[in-house]
Amino acid sequence: MIKLHDLEFEPYLSANELEETIAELAQQIHIDYKDKTPVFVGVLNGSFMFLSDLVKHYPGPCEIQFVRFKSYEGTNSTGEVKTLLDFSNLEGKDLIIVEDIVDTGHTLEAIVNRLEQGEQKSYQIASLFLKPEAYQKEIEINYVGMAIPNNFIVGYGLDYNELGRNLPEIYQLKQQHND
Ligand code: IMP
Ligand code: MG
Repeated sequence: MIKLHDLEFEPYLSANELEETIAELAQQIHIDYKDKTPVFVGVLNGSFMFLSDLVKHYPGPCEIQFVRFKSYEGTNSTGEVKTLLDFSNLEGKDLIIVEDIVDTGHTLEAIVNRLEQGEQKSYQIASLFLKPEAYQKEIEINYVGMAIPNNFIVGYGLDYNELGRNLPEIYQLKQQHND
């Protein structure tokens, strides 16, 4: 059990489980991109650990970039996506957008809207986690590490008000027991 700010979290996925999932995802992506040099575009801050492990397991040539958006405050999506940094220098490239987690899909939609104006050759989306019960969009997520229930999780890049990103495993918000 760990405490971040005012909330308690309990272990959910081990570092080993994460690594197995990510190694498999990297292989799956490589099958599709064997003859290309994809650019893994990490969405900051949440995806930094995932991207780092994903490319360590990726067996082919690739490039790495980062972009930044923000939609979360506390444990609920605000629905509003703020801030966007630099999608330049991606002209003519095959992009793989790397997200830590897709919840409502607002952030993903903002990214895709931005990409629709971009000059990349192609793009696909990879997300370590997807919350299918929360997802409200039609955008296809090409590579999903794991579908998870609609619980708030932290660790491995994911934060609760900026804490918890450094944890090497995933924790979930402790369920309230009324006993
Ligand atoms: P969406 O726009 O609602 O899909 O939310 C996407 C972003 O919110 C993700 O990129 C994360 O940064 C953050 N997020 C969504 N769910 C969680 C969670 O369970 N824990 C921590 N951050 C989350
Ligand atoms: Mg994020």
